[in-house]
Amino acid sequence: MYKFFTAEIIGNTSLNTCFKLLTLQPLSEIRIPQPGQFYMIQTGTACDPLLKRPFSIYSIQENRLSFLYRIRGKGTSSLSQLREGDRLQVIGPLGNSYPEPDGDFIAVAGGIGIASLFAFMSKYRRQAYLFYGAQNKDELVMLDAARELSKETFLSTCDGSDGCKGLITDELRDFLNRVIPARRPAQVYACGPVPMLRALSEITRSSGLSCYSSMEEHMACGIGACLGCMVKTVGGQKRVCKEGPVFNVEDIIW
Ligand SMILES: Cc1cc2nc3c(=O)[nH]c(=O)nc-3n(C[C@H](O)[C@H](O)[C@H](O)COP(=O)(O)OP(=O)(O)OC[C@H]3O[C@@H](n4cnc5c(N)ncnc54)[C@H](O)[C@@H]3O)c2cc1C
Ligand code: FES
Repeated sequence: MYKFFTAEIIGNTSLNTCFKLLTLQPLSEIRIPQPGQFYMIQTGTACDPLLKRPFSIYSIQENRLSFLYRIRGKGTSSLSQLREGDRLQVIGPLGNSYPEPDGDFIAVAGGIGIASLFAFMSKYRRQAYLFYGAQNKDELVMLDAARELSKETFLSTCDGSDGCKGLITDELRDFLNRVIPARRPAQVYACGPVPMLRALSEITRSSGLSCYSSMEEHMACGIGACLGCMVKTVGGQKRVCKEGPVFNVEDIIW
């Protein structure tokens, strides 16, 4: 069950020009989130922007909630201007979480999708073969921490400025071709843009791997009321904020 609460900003640190790490101190008791769950967070101290924005839990330490975010549009730009001591309305934790892995697993992150997978890799330290792709090296954030948490890290950038040049799904395909099936992790966890997830669903289906992905639809309410975040699944239309955000990729109609 989620809760509405007020939280005070205790950190809103720039990692580079596009990415920031927000740390919130809730002012009342909160429920402990599970990796994959998210929060709807107010992004301005006045009523503009009116709608809260969804952010995945990145880490929780001593009841402090951290979120890794990319500055994209109005809401995240407004959030990036806020300072320590500012107070925000928050709803969460929301949605379902990543299912427990059975031993080592593969994590595939596209861009800011790494935020959602960080909490998962922190819970299952050194069990992840992490495949992390982005447009360029500046968009591969928190790399040292990602390397520290994972068993092995594979990087790619579209412009070749770090890791292999190309798509992270191509890196994964090479890995699966190199490693004999008996030695491969059987589960894949992913978060990133839809084209990446669609390509991943084809790879995992043809390789016989199970794959769970966190879907990032636009959200207005985050609590299942507005039906603005629907995704087509084999079982009909589902709300990403309520029945997700984590889905078995086999269930999604891409
Ligand atoms: C469950 C969930 C968890 C998320 N976790 C994180 C996170 O941990 N860190 C993070 O940086 N972002 C996360 N996002 C995406 C984040 O919510 C959006 O980037 C944010 O709402 C954009 O708000 P804005 O007002 O700045 O941009 P807007 O002005 O609303 O839009 C700017 C641009 O971003 C695109 N955009 C807006 N919302 C989304 C979305 N939900 N998915 C994809 N593109 C979008 C728009 O199409 C537009 O091109 C998550 C989204 C969901 C649904
Ligand atoms: S965002 Fe309103 S139903 Fe999902």
